[in-house]
Amino acid sequence: MPSRSDRRVNDLRIGVLVSGRGSNLQAILDAIDRGELPAQVAVVLSNHAEVPAIDRARRHGVPAIVLERCAFRSRLEHQLAMARSLSEHRVQLVVLAGFDRVLESAFLKQFEGRVINVHPSLLPAFGGGLQAQIDAFDYGVKVSGCTVHYVTDEIDGGPIILQRAVPVREDDTGESLAARILVEEHKALPEAIRLIAAGRLSIEGRRVRVL
Ligand code: GRF
Repeated sequence: MPSRSDRRVNDLRIGVLVSGRGSNLQAILDAIDRGELPAQVAVVLSNHAEVPAIDRARRHGVPAIVLERCAFRSRLEHQLAMARSLSEHRVQLVVLAGFDRVLESAFLKQFEGRVINVHPSLLPAFGGGLQAQIDAFDYGVKVSGCTVHYVTDEIDGGPIILQRAVPVREDDTGESLAARILVEEHKALPEAIRLIAAGRLSIEGRRVRVL
């Protein structure tokens, strides 16, 4: 059994992009702490200052860097600065955990096939919005859930790694449904990272196969 420090050398180095609450970041950090995820969060980048996600990272001794859009001349320059920071931290996988901006092609090219996102609906239903849980509830669906997928130029349209379904209850509100979906996100995202760390995913067109 390798010691913790031995494991660290081989751990998948992930960079997590956040914008706010950071509960998915927390789920990743907790899974690592429990020894369930052979990964380490090499850096957390936030595009907003003073959000809870930054405190969560720092409490775990993870470097957290704020790069606000307004500090750069263009969206492209902002994202290229993020890409530089991720490369400086030798990040192998970029995880979007509640990041509220669309990524530029120039950013994605630098991390091709190495960017994943968690979305709070069963894609392709209710992609593209910022409140997919509420949109699904208002639409009247009977089952919703969450999706972890690769990020491509098509918004919320990259190959699907895994999904977890959440039935809608008669007494649900949009908020209660969103809360139950979030519980599933917290399982799905670490699980997807675990599969990637283990080299168990192969992308064949739109299909992601678990080996
Ligand atoms: C999650 O519902 C995620 O699916 C969506 O944004 C929310 C982020 O929550 N993309 P948190 O910041 O991880 O708590």
